[in-house]
Amino acid sequence: MATGPSIVNVDLPETPYKVVIQTGLLEEFSLPTELKLRYPHAVIITDDNVGKLWLNKLKRRLQKSIAQVDAIVVPHGEKAKSVEVANSLWQRLLTFQADRRTAIMALGGGVVGDLAGFVAATYMRGLDLIQIPTTLMAQVDSSIGGKVGVNLPQGKNLVGAFWQPKAVLIDPAALSTLNDRDYRAGLAEVVKYGAILDEKFFGEIEKQVIGLLARKPEVLQPIITRCCEIKSAVVLADERETSGRRSLLNFGHTFGHALEQVTAYNKFSHGEAVAIGMCCALRLAVQMKLIVDEVRARIEDLLVILGLPTQFPKLPPDQILEAMQRDKKKGAAGVSLVLPTKLGSGKLVPWPGDQPVREALR
Ligand SMILES: NC(=O)c1ccc[n+]([C@@H]2O[C@H](COP(=O)([O-])OP(=O)(O)OC[C@H]3O[C@@H](n4cnc5c(N)ncnc54)[C@H](O)[C@@H]3O)[C@@H](O)[C@H]2O)c1
Ligand SMILES: [Zn+2]
Repeated sequence: MATGPSIVNVDLPETPYKVVIQTGLLEEFSLPTELKLRYPHAVIITDDNVGKLWLNKLKRRLQKSIAQVDAIVVPHGEKAKSVEVANSLWQRLLTFQADRRTAIMALGGGVVGDLAGFVAATYMRGLDLIQIPTTLMAQVDSSIGGKVGVNLPQGKNLVGAFWQPKAVLIDPAALSTLNDRDYRAGLAEVVKYGAILDEKFFGEIEKQVIGLLARKPEVLQPIITRCCEIKSAVVLADERETSGRRSLLNFGHTFGHALEQVTAYNKFSHGEAVAIGMCCALRLAVQMKLIVDEVRARIEDLLVILGLPTQFPKLPPDQILEAMQRDKKKGAAGVSLVLPTKLGSGKLVPWPGDQPVREALR
């Protein structure tokens, strides 16, 4: 299908870059003009799932314009986002004689993007990074904004950096091979953007549910593009998460992270936890009279249609409250929550007390 590229500019003053969204981009891969003759060496980092499906195509295409193209395949899954795997990547880069003219290409989901990005940020004090995200989650969220890192046994994302990519290259058609559960997880983040930041876009998602569920590229490309625009605007307003604007992206996440933690990260995917978390935040916002119940119902209905869970599971509320209080996004004034104030808008609200939060967990 011949659709032209959509471009989103992330105009950071010191490290501007382009996000290119184009159906079929991986089949006909080429670097943006401004990067084309820049690298004598590229190292693609991917995981075994994505490697089987997309690595050879990308490698062959890159070999047309880059003299040396190497690839490293890590195991798939969150476990690979570790210091040990990062260390093995540093070692492999040394054997490939990677240096400051080497480009790191992160081909995969958020795990590969965060891990390869972290390795790019740290090896020889920093190599150029190109993000080629292949999950919906990574295409609409993790590949943009420069947050890279690995997990420690004590918790997720405890070691990392801000390291902006030189380009983000997105092929919506890559999602055709993604499993249903991971695809839906990305849809939760798509709904999040509409629900808390863009009312008009929320209506667009509602109109396109059938095409979205069928992963029609002509529906996906504009939707992914809008998500990238929203994420880019938030990152531009608050690159290092200091002013609070970027925190709106945490809608549903304080509840969601707590749910993931309490269930030891093996019951809900991140997207499922965020979907449930958004519904908790919506119920709380209704209780606090920030929104009317119709807004809650409309967002919840969309999540249900997209196949996402919305009900909080039967778990001891105290464990959840405790996990929420431990959330690392906690400021000096304690935990605050992102709550909607109407469809497409929200704000950061100080902890409203344990009782209302407990009720929102019902
Ligand atoms: N840096 C950020 O700003 C940011 C934001 C959100 C999430 N994250 C991180 O992202 C990670 C989650 O990312 P994710 O949801 O993409 O998970 P993931 O990277 O684990 O990918 C999910 C699964 O899909 C497979 N896969 C990927 N692309 C595929 C394709 N096109 N076809 C078939 N299979 C494919 C992967 O091998 C994996 O098994 C977490 O570690 C999270 O912390 C980071
Ligand atoms: Zn998320």
